[in-house]
Amino acid sequence: MDRPFVFINSAMSADGKISSYERKQVRISGPEDMDRVKLLRADSDAVMVGVGTVLADDPGLRVKSQDLKRMRSNRGLPEDPMRVVVDSRARTPPAAEVLGEGCILAVSKAAPEERLAPLRKKCEIVSLGEDRVDLEELLSILHKKGVERLMVEGGATLNWSLIEAGLVDEIYTYVGPMIIGGEAAPTLVDGPGFRADYPRLKLILVETMAGGVLLRWRVLS
Ligand SMILES: NC(=O)c1ccc[n+]([C@@H]2O[C@H](COP(=O)([O-])OP(=O)(O)OC[C@H]3O[C@@H](n4cnc5c(N)ncnc54)[C@H](OP(=O)(O)O)[C@@H]3O)[C@@H](O)[C@H]2O)c1
Repeated sequence: MDRPFVFINSAMSADGKISSYERKQVRISGPEDMDRVKLLRADSDAVMVGVGTVLADDPGLRVKSQDLKRMRSNRGLPEDPMRVVVDSRARTPPAAEVLGEGCILAVSKAAPEERLAPLRKKCEIVSLGEDRVDLEELLSILHKKGVERLMVEGGATLNWSLIEAGLVDEIYTYVGPMIIGGEAAPTLVDGPGFRADYPRLKLILVETMAGGVLLRWRVLS
């Protein structure tokens, strides 16, 4: 397989929303689930998000705990996993937290040079695909760079594209005890949706946690 093992991790409300209709971040999970996510991140070679998530949440995507950084160093790994942003038109703001050493910005040929120039100083840029980032090629490049385990931390549109392309192996969803509502609020997987051949999943873990439930699914090919 010319790509890493790919898993999505997401927190959603009981009604399947991952943020509000204003696309504002909602605290869905509690400390217990956040510790689980930190560990998953520290155990990954790279973490990936779409530019929609960067614009909405400005995540740093780094390992914050000193213990987890040490765990990685002891394994001979950099303190933080590689950070990857999928951003066809280079809309990532040059001040975004995710940028810096260890960040890869994947753009398409449609990215304008005037937006790329300031970003080049802050991260490695790879250009793949005409209008949209070619995800299969991106995963192949990451694999060649030594990425064996890739954690996808959203959002809804990137999740869709990866699943639609058959590039996801597992999905973790923490379902929190709350309702967000709103037809415009992003769900775990958005995009145009499937009309047939719905991808099938196998449930491999169910765990109650902080009033909600953690589900781990294997995507069947
Ligand atoms: N609860 C959670 O666990 C969680 C986690 C993460 C995010 N979120 C929420 O999710 C929302 C963001 O989701 P989103 O759907 O708006 O954005 P997203 O999935 O983070 O990013 C999607 C964007 O990535 C770019 N892209 C480039 N190539 C692509 C490709 N091949 N396939 C798909 N996208 C590609 C597209 O923009 P261009 O065409 O401009 O490149 C696209 O609009 C935010 O509200 C955030 O708070 C929640």
